[in-house]
Amino acid sequence: MAALITAPRLMAIGGGALAELPQLLAQLGLTRPLIVSDPYIAGCGILDRATALLDKAGVPWSVFADTVPDPTTEVIETGTLRLRSGDFDSLVAIGGGSSIDTAKGMSVLLANGGHLRDYKVPNEIPLAGPPIVAIPTTAGTGSEVTRFTVVTDTETDEKMLIAGLACCPSAAIVDFELTLTMPLRLTADTGIDSLTHAIEAYVSRRASPFTDGLAKNAMGLIARNIRAACADPQNRAAREAMMLGATKAGMAFSNASVALVHGMSRPIGAFFHVPHGLSNAMLLPEITAFSAPAALERYADCARAMGVAPEGEGSQAAVARLLDELRRLNADLQVPSPSAYGIDRKRYNELLPVMTSQALASGSPANNPRVPTSEEIIDLYRRVYE
Ligand SMILES: [Fe+2]
Repeated sequence: MAALITAPRLMAIGGGALAELPQLLAQLGLTRPLIVSDPYIAGCGILDRATALLDKAGVPWSVFADTVPDPTTEVIETGTLRLRSGDFDSLVAIGGGSSIDTAKGMSVLLANGGHLRDYKVPNEIPLAGPPIVAIPTTAGTGSEVTRFTVVTDTETDEKMLIAGLACCPSAAIVDFELTLTMPLRLTADTGIDSLTHAIEAYVSRRASPFTDGLAKNAMGLIARNIRAACADPQNRAAREAMMLGATKAGMAFSNASVALVHGMSRPIGAFFHVPHGLSNAMLLPEITAFSAPAALERYADCARAMGVAPEGEGSQAAVARLLDELRRLNADLQVPSPSAYGIDRKRYNELLPVMTSQALASGSPANNPRVPTSEEIIDLYRRVYE
């Protein structure tokens, strides 16, 4: 069966790539962008650098800088009103995955109307909206290259997965210099998120030879550099490797899908407001242990690609090393358990059935090498709590 691959039409990748913004817009024939960002990016100088470039090129622009972490339908509806009220032909998203996902939601809503919940998977998005140029400032969600957006339904607290060509940015600017000021916690959380993308894309039932290469390359870059990037924010080589890894992992999972970790992570994020990368990290070692017997060779390949198991060593031993490394990484990066994070045990237990049904409804667990039953998901949630 043929693998269907989605990717942006144009990408500028490397230190200083932000300077290519006017040129990218011109190549795509876009002249009137609405910039989508957040208060931090608006205040730290990155937004000013982008708008100065547009001013110099004579491109008129306007800014919607009210995006929030874990974007909500409410904020996206406000942003869409803003988009509709002006004469814009495109969106330029600058920020972490939340700003990029907000821009995607705005584009989908402008073109299709209704409510974003109408387009959550498995529903299709009928029309593509205004094109998006995505400029990530974290390494990262990979959202700059994916056909997904994750939006929290303000009314139900559900973290919805919305997928389709309409969500894939037309262009991406991948400039690791924008990540040099990222604080430790954000570097660690977004880094583990991208490692999870690479591993899940590789073990996914929807993986293909094309995504395999991207995923293995990404996990090698991330695993070898995440500790250095956390220890020294100004380590340019580590930052560049992390950024490349995040984008490649994004291309891999955009086309191979994520699996059980992401499926179970979204409800934890939605109900307990745990940052996305952190809730992935809480789950990754235990879910890898659960899944590995069903795809021993694939997980062994991950250990080898990450540089924690020698080539030629047997798969069982390599997988044991992978599990050790994932647990050690969580310890080194101070990833708490849900309990240590302060999540109330009673409420956690009460919510397990709804968390499980949301996890299953997202479709991601069906891509896992070992497809869990509801009971197994509940059991896994219980196991990671302490
Ligand atoms: Fe993710």
